[in-house]
Amino acid sequence: MSNSHSSPEERHSVLHIWGRQPLSGHVTISGAKNSALVLMAGSILCSGTCRLRNVPSLLDITRIGEILSALGVKVSHSQGILDLDASEITQSKAPYDLVSQLRASFFVAGPLLARLGVAQVPLPGGCSIGDRPVDLHVKGLQALGAEVIIEHGVVHARLRGNRKRLTGARIYLDFPSVGATENIMMAATLAEGETIIENAAQEPEVVDLANFCRAMGAQIRGAGTNRIVINGVPQLHETEYSVVPDRIEAGTFLLAGAITRSEISLSPVVPDHLSATIAKLSEIGVKVAIDAPDRIRVLPTEQFRGTDIETLPFPGFPTDLQAPFMSLLTLAEGDSMVTEKLFENRLQHVAELNRMGADIRLKGNIAIVRGVPQLSGAPVQGTDLRASAALVIAGLAANGMTTVRGLNHLDRGYDNIEAKLRGLGAKIQRAQEAEIPAAPAESKRS
Ligand code: EPZ
Repeated sequence: MSNSHSSPEERHSVLHIWGRQPLSGHVTISGAKNSALVLMAGSILCSGTCRLRNVPSLLDITRIGEILSALGVKVSHSQGILDLDASEITQSKAPYDLVSQLRASFFVAGPLLARLGVAQVPLPGGCSIGDRPVDLHVKGLQALGAEVIIEHGVVHARLRGNRKRLTGARIYLDFPSVGATENIMMAATLAEGETIIENAAQEPEVVDLANFCRAMGAQIRGAGTNRIVINGVPQLHETEYSVVPDRIEAGTFLLAGAITRSEISLSPVVPDHLSATIAKLSEIGVKVAIDAPDRIRVLPTEQFRGTDIETLPFPGFPTDLQAPFMSLLTLAEGDSMVTEKLFENRLQHVAELNRMGADIRLKGNIAIVRGVPQLSGAPVQGTDLRASAALVIAGLAANGMTTVRGLNHLDRGYDNIEAKLRGLGAKIQRAQEAEIPAAPAESKRS
């Protein structure tokens, strides 16, 4: 597995985008980051080898692979296929330096506790979009019979008393947290008896994890609803599983097509996973055609109008597409109100979009977007993964050249985004910060 620490070159690379190029053709959507990460953690539950297919090649995948290796899982990854042999887990302690770089690494807590009866996982800590506490994860593991203490920044969890396994329980989540639902569900697969998770998260990634666990022999009902029932089994077996397509990557490309008034098609996708996004697009006048069960197409739209968006847990509007959608709304006719309800600090892209000539005012977690006729290219800084994607999308529609910095964020969640955009005809180039870019000639279309 390649080194997860981005090299000095990578850290200083930027994306140059020459805007106002129509896009056309087809783009292939990769496996979902937010599913692959938790499925990899879930492989700890199996006392053999699991094979995952359609795994995206991303920095975060590399990082969680290193954490699993440090725990004793044999990890081999090539061309989207990942073999995870967890037959000999040697460690219950996840290394601090690796965990501190990746929030999702906290997903190993539930599987380690269920498999070994003990887990020591550093607190993931906050990130640029918010504090990101794990109190709901901890409460859930305690309800399943774990004794949990947090000391020196590490969550120490172990089976209470002389129990041999966790014990099923009824757990009500104060908030339908994706991560807490996933951690508790994984832990409950090997617990004694029945667990019921009420007010569970319903995200497609939760359903994908449940399907993966069931393929290993787990007994899970109700994933995708707000009530999940798990009947624990003594052990899980090897399996092969293919990661679900990335609905957030697909949504990002829909928005790239819409903002450049282009017609592009995308596959594989699961249209139902994008229903809120497609509904909002059609509300503003952008049509999306469902051409096949796994294929959609955005149609060219000259003018679109403003709308109001509020981020909510699935099936509500996804917080991960809030920033990219806002880029589109900067060019809408009329005003829009965007309310970020999930994360307390996920509007940092506003200042950068305003640098490109947008007219956005912030009031707490609400952004008032006044549509402008055009954006102009500028040097901008991505502050987190989806904010960086929003700046790339804005750059595709702006006059002149936009230079996006902060690619260490973008590379965490988008598999080869500039090559995919170039394949659609975008003028986009990754370069070293110091290099003077020359606009590429007409790009090859796919
Ligand atoms: C997952 O994060 C995704 N990450 C996020 O995607 C996504 O934004 C989020 O779900 C919501 O859809 C992965 O799957 C790796 P949550 P997660 O627990 O599980 C609060 C991206 O861009 N909360 O549903 O961390 C929390 O602070 C990333 O790909 C608690 O209060 O999200 C937040 O306000 C960013 N206590 C809210 O719940 C807890 O114990 C939603 O968090 C847990 C969460």
